[in-house]
Amino acid sequence: MDQILINGGYPLNGEVTVSGAKNAALPIIAATILTGGRFTFHNVPILKDIESIQALLVDMGAEVEFSDNTLSIDTGNLSDFEAPYEHVRKMRASILVLGPLLARMKRARVSLPGGCAIGARPIEQHLNGLSHLGAEISLAHGYVEASAQNLTGAEIYLDLPTVTGTENLMMAAVLAEGRTVLHNVAREPEITALADVLNLMGADISGSGSSTITINGVKELHPVTATIIPDRIETGTFMVAAALTGGEIVINTCEPTHLKELALKLEKTGAEIEYRDRSIRVRGSHPINSVDVKTMPYPGFPTDMQAQFMVLMSVANGFSVISENVFENRFIHVSELRRMGADITISGSHAMVRGVPELSGAPVMATDLRASASLILAGMIARGTTRINRVYHLDRGYDRIEKKFSRLGASIKRISV
Ligand code: EPZ
Repeated sequence: MDQILINGGYPLNGEVTVSGAKNAALPIIAATILTGGRFTFHNVPILKDIESIQALLVDMGAEVEFSDNTLSIDTGNLSDFEAPYEHVRKMRASILVLGPLLARMKRARVSLPGGCAIGARPIEQHLNGLSHLGAEISLAHGYVEASAQNLTGAEIYLDLPTVTGTENLMMAAVLAEGRTVLHNVAREPEITALADVLNLMGADISGSGSSTITINGVKELHPVTATIIPDRIETGTFMVAAALTGGEIVINTCEPTHLKELALKLEKTGAEIEYRDRSIRVRGSHPINSVDVKTMPYPGFPTDMQAQFMVLMSVANGFSVISENVFENRFIHVSELRRMGADITISGSHAMVRGVPELSGAPVMATDLRASASLILAGMIARGTTRINRVYHLDRGYDRIEKKFSRLGASIKRISV
């Protein structure tokens, strides 16, 4: 079991290169199920979640090689259509194999993902959409059993813009007979990244990035080589780190257009932001102004940046309200931040944050992926030493982040206990 130790008080300065986006890589890797042949993906991040989905596909019969951030995968000999509980419980995004398995194998047996720390994480939007495409869906013994003689294009209205729900339905529809129109879909950049790869494979998808996606079914697809887009949440985490520590960081190989809402909020707190072609320069300034934030589906303020921004507000010079509108239980990091001296009161989906002069280092516990990142940020400005337990949450979604922070001047190290 690893821990991360941080001594606070060091401003971060320098340049950092972000890794490929976990939430783009996962659906794109699942999409390889749609056709046999050898795919090659570049800029794949080295993460536990990427290991998990590779292990799942290998158990289904895929051949996988992964080195130097390049992943090659061939699902030509796929022999199984099941995603068992032992895989799905480790990573709920395994549900992303449901759509492509149905499209390719006409059958799928996928463990229900169940909830996680941040919420119940239901998948009824995924299942209702697949039924509209002609799938027979039943739930038994904690599994989704799905089958379809043929998938037929349909007009589908999502109740809410679910990210993986949009991805599952896109992948199920690409080989369906006829046209599918998905309404009220998610608009995240990872949706567009998946649509771009599917079109490269021979699919016919238009409208990604907007609220309506149209898919004309095709007869067959072919394997491709593609590069994973930069991780906008990792980028945002470094942007907040610069604002928080009063340093200056240039974040390279990122996609600045993916972070407009966060950048606007950071400028309101007093940070100086310069956009370059494929990089962003952020310079923090003190005092930090208090700014209210409401998390919303893209292009609103990302829920995956809520915990990180809350750390910034916890040492701002006033009072801010942070509203979490996407997940029902995404304030777990608050109790840990309070133990470091933050003054935060929760009322329903709102966290009232009263800025304090400084935080103090403490032993804390990571509870979910982005909460882990917020505890690292808090440790970097806290007086004294912070010891973070259960950093396996961090390893699911950040590629060697303590090394990246250390190169920027943070006093941070990982120890094995
Ligand atoms: C994706 O999760 C991301 N994961 C999450 O990132 C991210 O926080 C989330 O989108 C929101 O942006 C991946 O892409 C692998 P949703 P997803 O379905 O698709 C409710 C991280 O840190 N909902 O858009 O599971 C749901 O309960 C992770 O990398 C239903 O009610 O999120 C939630 O409240 C954490 N019914 C809201 O919608 C459904 O059928 C948004 O969920 C589906 C979702």
